[in-house]
Amino acid sequence: VLTNPLRPLLLAAAGSARLQRVVTGLPVSRAVVRRYVPGAGQDAVVDATREILASGRAISIDHLGEDTSDPAQAEATVQAYLDLLEAFGTLDAPARDGVPTLEVSLKLSALGQFLPDGGHDIALTNARRICRAAEAVGAWVNVDAEDHTTTDSTLAIVRELRADHPSVATVLQAYLRRTEEDCRSLATEGSRIRLCKGAYAEPADVAFQKGDEVDASYQRCLEILFEGEGYPMVASHDPEMIETGLALAERLGRSSDRYEFQMLYGIRDDEQRRLAAAGHTVRVYTPYGDQWYGYFMRRLAERPANLLFFARSLIGR
Ligand code: FDA
Repeated sequence: VLTNPLRPLLLAAAGSARLQRVVTGLPVSRAVVRRYVPGAGQDAVVDATREILASGRAISIDHLGEDTSDPAQAEATVQAYLDLLEAFGTLDAPARDGVPTLEVSLKLSALGQFLPDGGHDIALTNARRICRAAEAVGAWVNVDAEDHTTTDSTLAIVRELRADHPSVATVLQAYLRRTEEDCRSLATEGSRIRLCKGAYAEPADVAFQKGDEVDASYQRCLEILFEGEGYPMVASHDPEMIETGLALAERLGRSSDRYEFQMLYGIRDDEQRRLAAAGHTVRVYTPYGDQWYGYFMRRLAERPANLLFFARSLIGR
């Protein structure tokens, strides 16, 4: 929630290398992180995938990492995705009503988008390799949204990817003032758009700052996406946003294979199961790997209760 007074502080901490060393060095961090990240290795996330699929939900897996400044690191990230997609091939995970149950989510900054020499092309080539491997096992690919300085570059790369792989999805963030316009231009036939509120610290000239403004923007954007020709993905834990998605699906007569709900691993698990049992497509965004610091700090920033839980664990109560 944007009105959390500690949010700016925690989001600033998310970018601090020094704090990262301190927090990741605390033994208790690992236990708390397990709430949001099933594990560091591929086996842990493949086990989590089996469990999620067995419960009637779908999955999108993110290999943790962002802001790569090292080409070797970008290559290691691509390799991790290729290995994971190979493991997908061994799972019994048929599509449901034409909707693949398996998806990978990637961050272009982890694939080299901001490397000094030709970052754009490196990220594009790397993303293409992942898209080809995903297609081979019938999985979807989603390109995550990062801070607003990356939006133009990310949408340009997604456009290029979609020329060869039309099912590639991307994310729009309702807190950005530009997003309503982006929704209008992207709500086209075959286009899959995940709508989230937005998780980064953004300045007032580009982003709404108040929670109720973000919520209103989210609802306007959702309406544009549902009224359009694409496949909207409602990514929120907020009961009001979920209610809006349900109402739009009903009013516009969309069947459950033409939209989906998405929530993060470990958050509102009961609600995820309830929606899936009611016949909606529910996809669980599941991160894995050891680069969990930035992801974890953004989750703490969203919800003071998470921070309290972390603080209690630190002092052993
Ligand atoms: P918000 O945090 O505003 O919470 C609103 C209400 O939801 C709360 O008041 C409470 O009622 C309920 N709620 C929230 N958390 C709860 C909990 N733990 N337990 C019980 N109730 C809870 N961001 C980004 O910038 N780029 C991206 O690519 C993505 N990708 C992404 C994928 C998916 C699947 C999700 C769900 C989210 C993202 N995000 C993201 C993160 C997103 O931008 C946002 O920061 C978080 O989802 C938090 O916003 P919410 O909409 O969940 O509600």
